[in-house]
Amino acid sequence: MLLHFHNLTKRYGAQTVLDGITAGLDFPHVLVLLGPSGGGKSTLLRVIGGLETPDAGTLTLDGEPVPSEAKPLRSYRAGIGTVFQSWNLFPHLDALANIMLPLTAVHGLSPAEARTRSMELLERLHLADHAAKRPAELSGGQRQRVAIARAVAIRPRLLLFDEPTSALDPEMTAEVLDVIADLKEEGRTFILVTHAMNFARVVADQVAFLAGGRLIEYGGAQEFFSNPKTDTARRFLDRVLRY
Ligand SMILES: Nc1ncnc2c1ncn2[C@@H]1O[C@H](COP(=O)(O)OP(=O)(O)OP(=O)(O)O)[C@@H](O)[C@H]1O
Ligand SMILES: [Mg+2]
Repeated sequence: MLLHFHNLTKRYGAQTVLDGITAGLDFPHVLVLLGPSGGGKSTLLRVIGGLETPDAGTLTLDGEPVPSEAKPLRSYRAGIGTVFQSWNLFPHLDALANIMLPLTAVHGLSPAEARTRSMELLERLHLADHAAKRPAELSGGQRQRVAIARAVAIRPRLLLFDEPTSALDPEMTAEVLDVIADLKEEGRTFILVTHAMNFARVVADQVAFLAGGRLIEYGGAQEFFSNPKTDTARRFLDRVLRY
């Protein structure tokens, strides 16, 4: 996938959160966004997902501009699967209904088609026995796997993961990271924000390092982890890899 940013700028009040980012990011399947807290990773992910509109600048995906008008923006958004830290499931619906809802409500599948596709995914993610449970009756790891199933079910052109494991204990984290690693094996394309550095190292094709609203460094994952080009990235890696 080729992502192109031209002077991409996002402000919240007086604060500039994305500071005129211009870059071309070309990654085969997996781009990992890294950087210090508050650096703009989630904001950039939300702009890429069409959930926030930039204040200035443009963004293209494989040469196609991300639309700014309401109607084309809605259909753009419908082609992107998103999984955030937590609480993205509808609490009153069971796991199966959570996965089915976007398929019937947004993607025009019949209830029967949506059910078949959703059950296949639940089985693939070892969740078939939990199809009738509501989110409160699932473990954190199961909940995130349902959220991933829901994002994948729409057959998105791009998946966005924002710290999908940060609310989970180590065992549940491993469960969810296994699923994300499988998605890479299946050849899906995604952008991942994570603090799980060892996982980032294993799964990333390319790494983009964001700090202070700027894209400080971008390149191959092996190169980034073994030989970061900037002092900012080197200091960040020293800090996060210390323990
Ligand atoms: N909706 C908002 N309203 C106002 N300020 C915001 C909003 N969202 C983010 N910010 C600010 O924008 C900056 C970047 O936030 P962002 O969430 O993108 O950082 P991040 O890199 O994802 O950080 P973290 O690693 O802690 O998740 C922060 O200073 C944050 O306070
Ligand atoms: Mg964030």
